[in-house]
Amino acid sequence: MLEKVLSQLSPSNPWKHNIHYYDCITSTNDVLKQMAKDGAPHGTVLFADRQTLGHGRLGRSFLSPSGVGIYMSILLRPECRPEELMHLTCAVASAMCDAIERSASFRPGIKWTNDLVYKKRKLCGILTELGFLPSGMVDYAVIGIGINCCQKPDDFAPEIRDIAGSLAMVQHSPIDRTLVAASMIDAIENMSRNLLGNKEAILQQYRRDCITLGQDVSIHKADSVRYGRALDIDSNGALIVQYISGETEAVSSGEVSIRGMYGYV
Ligand code: BTN
Repeated sequence: MLEKVLSQLSPSNPWKHNIHYYDCITSTNDVLKQMAKDGAPHGTVLFADRQTLGHGRLGRSFLSPSGVGIYMSILLRPECRPEELMHLTCAVASAMCDAIERSASFRPGIKWTNDLVYKKRKLCGILTELGFLPSGMVDYAVIGIGINCCQKPDDFAPEIRDIAGSLAMVQHSPIDRTLVAASMIDAIENMSRNLLGNKEAILQQYRRDCITLGQDVSIHKADSVRYGRALDIDSNGALIVQYISGETEAVSSGEVSIRGMYGYV
């Protein structure tokens, strides 16, 4: 697996000597966070065929069976303050659209903030976790990505069968998981070089990819639901929503989940 991924990586990718593959791991994010605390360098990549304790946003578990997906985490050390990284999740999502376009020949959309979707089905989830230095500066960002590559509809658990999809279900032909993995690493490496210096260009691409914009949405906070229309993405990656009352608000991903008026997307 690793040899094939390395052979499909861009020859100029500077991270090629620091990519680690596991047949089975607890969670690539958890293991990489520990490696980050122990001093692993910028550009360290872990990916696995299977995870036993994969997890996603809001403490949810992320099922990670063997043979059908790519479960990957990438370590960045951007040397900046946390407020300069508010757009990181958006940048990762657009980079994953690039990776899928290269390896599966279609470009998915993004359901704000960071679910990659195609025809109302989620193909990919992203979980970004930050660590801090005593000074308050960012020590590391661990970017975790899970992509459904080869599943058929019946492979998904009944409770997500109507909203989950895979690259193979869109492309209707076999998916080369090693090309997907190589494309993910190249896309994140490319994004990381523009992350701090080219923020507005990253957000412009994100706005083009984001299918939530222009949609009627419901905004779910801890114990309330409000309805409105998604108007724009601000310079921090927050979603600008106009509520039915006419009031507008910039909502951040940490505090809400959103849904379309008629379901998940
Ligand atoms: C979500 O949809 O809520 C995010 C899912 C993120 C899953 C990936 S798989 C690789 C990495 N390791 C984990 O435990 N989680 C992320």
